[in-house]
Amino acid sequence: MGSGSPVVHRAHLFHIGGAPTLDDARTHLISIPDGALAVGADGTIAFSGPHADLPVECARWPVSDHRGGFILPGFVDTHIHFPQTYATDSYGGGQLLEWLDNCIFPAETRYADPAFAQRAAADFCRRRTAVGTTAAMVFGSAFPAAQDALFTETERVGLRMVSGRGIQTTGQASAAALITDIDTAITRCVDEIDRWHGRDLIDVALVPRFSLSVTPDTFVALGELYDDVRDRGVYFHTHLNENNRPGTGEIAATLGAYDVDSYLDTYDGRFLPGSRVGGSSLLGRRSVLAHAVHCTDAELARMAEAQTSIAHCPTSQLFLGSGTMPWRRTTAAGVTVALGSDIGGGDEWLIPQVAADCFKVHMSEVGDAGVSLHPAELLFAATLAGARALDREDTFGNLDAGKAADFVVVDPQRWEPLARTLEHGIRADDTETATAQTLFALLMGLREPAITEVWVQGSLVTPAPSTSSQL
Ligand code: GUN
Ligand code: ZN
Repeated sequence: MGSGSPVVHRAHLFHIGGAPTLDDARTHLISIPDGALAVGADGTIAFSGPHADLPVECARWPVSDHRGGFILPGFVDTHIHFPQTYATDSYGGGQLLEWLDNCIFPAETRYADPAFAQRAAADFCRRRTAVGTTAAMVFGSAFPAAQDALFTETERVGLRMVSGRGIQTTGQASAAALITDIDTAITRCVDEIDRWHGRDLIDVALVPRFSLSVTPDTFVALGELYDDVRDRGVYFHTHLNENNRPGTGEIAATLGAYDVDSYLDTYDGRFLPGSRVGGSSLLGRRSVLAHAVHCTDAELARMAEAQTSIAHCPTSQLFLGSGTMPWRRTTAAGVTVALGSDIGGGDEWLIPQVAADCFKVHMSEVGDAGVSLHPAELLFAATLAGARALDREDTFGNLDAGKAADFVVVDPQRWEPLARTLEHGIRADDTETATAQTLFALLMGLREPAITEVWVQGSLVTPAPSTSSQL
């Protein structure tokens, strides 16, 4: 919407301009040390470029001077769990299925209490703002009142979000409160779509937790619903191929529970006994699948064909021992790979820190001889790839003129290690190498205190301050 009055922000601008593929990210890296970002009254970017080239009509606008600091596009988190706001660093869980049973289902059950959920929604939005996550695909709570609290608070604060209630129609005792019958699940999804989808900053997704939490009949019903709402731009979001422990892990259990050739088939309508096309596919350009660590070539090819994206969550994969998504094989298949915090499997809200883990795990990738991601590729994964995964690249993801002004302001002086690294650690003589070194140090060294302002669609995001409460 915009703040109503135009303004020019001055800082060092970094973004990935245009609409490149990952392979072309480094040639599309834009770095403008004495940059200007002119934001019109309508909240869109009127100009971004060198301050010296500011058009005359913007030169009269008030200036917000962040020189010495940086402006980056707002970060996009393509996989984060609202009902796990307080569930990071849960001890004693083991790997995925044990962790869900011991830690996560009990934690998510607490959201049945509307007052607790309301508090969590406020904290969730405050955390998102603190780390500059301007857009997110949010895995929702099972409870409609909790989802209402999340949508209401997110809209009030002014952050972009796609979310949907977590659907479970089967599961163990620890998940009992999260489970409904199929009809109730569908009714609640329809209600959520009707009330919240297609708003200015908010959209809705269908979100079955994962194949083990639902049944083939649930997928048939979800497929029918998706056939009805796909054209309205409703999203689909879930987990795929995360834990491959032999025999007892998630993938083995899924392949045991469904008559499928691959895990992806369960989301692709290919699961009914005796039939190769049992239901409607839930895949498409508005489908985002989290993890996809252990995919077959055929699964990757199918995702690329369907324009379905991957939310890559390296921080969570370290915590839950899920393994490492093969970076080269996955991206070479033509699938969009964006980043996800996977709070609370991941314990880091700040997407640049997830990008830092991404760099480290792929540098250490076994069998792929250490993939050294270029800083432009990290910035791409943290911003533009996320906008592409959410099918909103036309609206946000970089600082190109005409896009919504979704950006963060970074003041390195607020985080001394970052300030000192930038001051003394950039030693290259040529501009291209110095630019890459600066961006790398900025992304790897960024911490919350250095994010001083967060803007969405030209409006400063200002969540209510935290209040202590007894819950
Ligand atoms: N698979 C099914 N549910 C979950 C969850 O909550 N977190 C993660 N990381 N994987 C899942
Ligand atoms: Zn997850």
